[in-house]
Amino acid sequence: MSTYSIITYGCQMNEHDSENIAGMLEALGYIHEEDPWSADLVVMNTCSVRENADKRFFGVLGQFKKMKKSNPEFMLCVCGCMPQQPRIIEQINKRFSWVDIVFGTQNIARLPELIEARKETGQKQRAIVDNNPNITEDEMHPVRMHPHKALVNITFGCNNFCTYCIVPYTRGREKSRLLRDVVCEIEKLAADGVREVMLLGQNVDSYKDTLGNSFADLIKAVNEIDGIDRIRFMTSHPRDISDEMIECFRSCSKLCHNIHLPVQSGSDRVLKRMNRHYDRERYLEIVDKIRRFAPDITISTDIIVGFPGETEEDFEETLDIARRVRYDSAFTFIYSAREGTPAAKFEDQIPDDVCHKRFDRLVELMDGISLEKNREYKGRVVEVLCDGSSKNSPNTYSGRTDGFKLVNFTSDKNEEDIAGEIVNVEITETKTFSLEGREVV
Ligand code: SAH
Ligand code: SF4
Ligand code: F3S
Repeated sequence: MSTYSIITYGCQMNEHDSENIAGMLEALGYIHEEDPWSADLVVMNTCSVRENADKRFFGVLGQFKKMKKSNPEFMLCVCGCMPQQPRIIEQINKRFSWVDIVFGTQNIARLPELIEARKETGQKQRAIVDNNPNITEDEMHPVRMHPHKALVNITFGCNNFCTYCIVPYTRGREKSRLLRDVVCEIEKLAADGVREVMLLGQNVDSYKDTLGNSFADLIKAVNEIDGIDRIRFMTSHPRDISDEMIECFRSCSKLCHNIHLPVQSGSDRVLKRMNRHYDRERYLEIVDKIRRFAPDITISTDIIVGFPGETEEDFEETLDIARRVRYDSAFTFIYSAREGTPAAKFEDQIPDDVCHKRFDRLVELMDGISLEKNREYKGRVVEVLCDGSSKNSPNTYSGRTDGFKLVNFTSDKNEEDIAGEIVNVEITETKTFSLEGREVV
């Protein structure tokens, strides 16, 4: 029996692609192996969003050469966002010629055929074809990471072309799945015991299917599905978020009171150069409106520091908007120039030391706010969907609140009885990135 292992580098979309790839490999008879260095077939599902993702990938890729020597059957496959760029494909072909199969983000369904061709012909396989008309999601049988929660694609690709971002080039043009196909998939998931779904798209707010259904229509339809208790989505774009969607926080009982709303910068000048199509005033208006409909909502964000031309004043505006919104959590990134994006050609790139100093100041502020916000939970009882036991100690479990707070808690129950269940947890300790507590019955 041959074994497979998948290394996933990217976002939830990549994670879900890996689940689909695992499903296809298992249908071919491959058995999962946790350790890639012991597997007969390895898939590297890559990310290219920032430069350090690139570097990590090439480092690991180099190390796989020795596997070919020790195991003549060994097969190495590379997919995800890296090989979508011609310069990367060139490098793979030139410097890493032992890679057996390379396939693009829109060619995932072809993997079984590529493996067969590789075995039969002995030829290396390369399949990077864009604008593949077949969205094959409905034919996929993913091996999901958790039995009780699932990732569900609603759109593919991105049309936004934020000037720093590589994603529109690696994932192609935006396409929405039909509402009825998404609903059908979630009905099947519910029948399979899934209680929480995360609807995925680079910009979920621009979801529109060919029958005219909007993202709000989709949320309302998913809210009607029996067996589903929690609905989440990722990622919102302040430009496209609609009032109708925001109203769903009140009208749809299963919609979690949590939103990831990337701001990227607090400066209007920078936002314009990023091609984000909103200004700080509009962003703050949206946050106000969301909080009016869901006063207990938790809000997280993404922020880029050191975008070309960012002045001290611009950066101060970012600190200011963070103080005003008081985010529950934030993903903060130092700007990383991506070849092929407009911002990489902007002349006023910011020196590394300035970026790092600003980054440290921002992280300090954000961590302080996160800690303050988490302190408000002390003594409260919250509902937690238990993901399973935490590896370190017995009878300690972890899970997420409706607001996506990570909770580590103790319970007398066995893992089989508690994993996948929503339980009440009293919060006894609060930290910057998590809460601690004990189950109360
Ligand atoms: N579609 C989502 C996520 C895109 S990638 C969105 O629009 O928010 C996730 C985050 O990575 C982005 O929100 C951005 O903050 C960050 N990012 C993207 N490109 C980057 C770059 N070139 N340098 C630094 N951070 C970047
Ligand atoms: Fe990138 Fe902007 Fe699209 Fe998000 S919306 S994936 S940041 S181009
Ligand atoms: Fe990375 Fe591609 Fe996702 S670049 S963040 S894996 S869409």
